[in-house]
This record gives sequence, structure tokens and C-alpha cells, in this order.
Amino acid sequence: MERIGVLFVCLGNICRSPLAEGVFRQLVAEAGLQDRFRIDSAGTSGYHQGDAPDPRTCAVAVGRGIVLEHTARRVRATDLEQFDYVLAMDGENLERLQALTDGRGTRARLALLRAFEPGMPPDAEVPDPYYDEDGGFEAVHDMVERACRGLLAHSRAERELPCCARGRRRSWRAR
Ligand code: 4NP
Repeated sequence: MERIGVLFVCLGNICRSPLAEGVFRQLVAEAGLQDRFRIDSAGTSGYHQGDAPDPRTCAVAVGRGIVLEHTARRVRATDLEQFDYVLAMDGENLERLQALTDGRGTRARLALLRAFEPGMPPDAEVPDPYYDEDGGFEAVHDMVERACRGLLAHSRAERELPCCARGRRRSWRAR
């Protein structure tokens, strides 16, 4: 069965999108659905290509039991044909992704990640924490987690994936 491809995209691919990748991986694993998804992240710039995630991102992730193993890479036009969802952290990066399509249709649905966060307006963004010295990474984690829960619920409903985690008793529900 073909996996559902989800690509998270920010500017540098060292702060927001690798964290979203790690959070979504964890939620998918908790749901026992790791074989049903292909999950990755990328940046619209090449500023940090080849770099590990920012230490502040790693610290927030480790605090949630998530080890980030990503290496930064730049998004490619071919990603838009290989993934089903390509999710930008903010409007600027969404525009950069749209520019890669040359106005053509793509397999991937391009959207803002926070459009999947319940109760948020469709233009809600995950703000860039790179120059933030005051707890911005924690806030980024929390909004990314809420949005990823919404994304999982959405993709699950759309693909009619099972709503009970394999090997677990408790049934899954959106929080
Ligand atoms: P990200 O954060 O897009 O969430 O990875 C940034 C990382 C690096 C830079 C900007 C944003 N930078 O300008 O180098």
C-alpha cells in the first residue's frame, strides 16, 4: 500500500520543520501507523543544507522524548510530485513553494501547517523562532503539536485509516 507522504517546510530546515517532522513521527508511531506514512522536512533556502537541527530545537524535542535525526536539505520541485501534503510553516514559505510549481497543478496539496490546527484561521503561521531568545521554541513546539494532531486526524479520515492503534487497547480520538 502506498504511504501517505508528508513534507514539512520552513526556511532553514533547522528549527520549525524538523521539529514538526519529529512531532508528527511520534504521533504517527503512537497511533501504530508508522508503516502508512512517509515523513520528511526541507527548507526553502539552502542556508543550512547539511546541518543538524538547531540545538534549541533539539532541546525542546528531547524534553518531549523526541530525538531529531534530520539533516537539513533544500526543497526540490520533485518533492511536490512525491509527497501528498507539503506543509509550510508560514506564508512566505508557502509562496516560495507555490513559485516552484510554475503555476502547474501538483500531486501534493500545498498548505500552511496551522490550517490543520482546530479553531485557527486558515492563514495562521508558525513564527520563525531563529532570532527569538525568549522561549519561542517551546511555543513553536506547542502549536506544531496541535496542528500535527489535526493533520493526523484529517489524513486518517481522508484515507480511512484505522482509528484504533494496533496492539493498543485505547481507541484514538482527537484532542
Ligand atoms: P527555520 O528557522 O526556518 O525554522 O529553520 C530559521 C533558521 C535559520 C535562518 C532563518 C530561520 N537563517 O536565517 O539562517
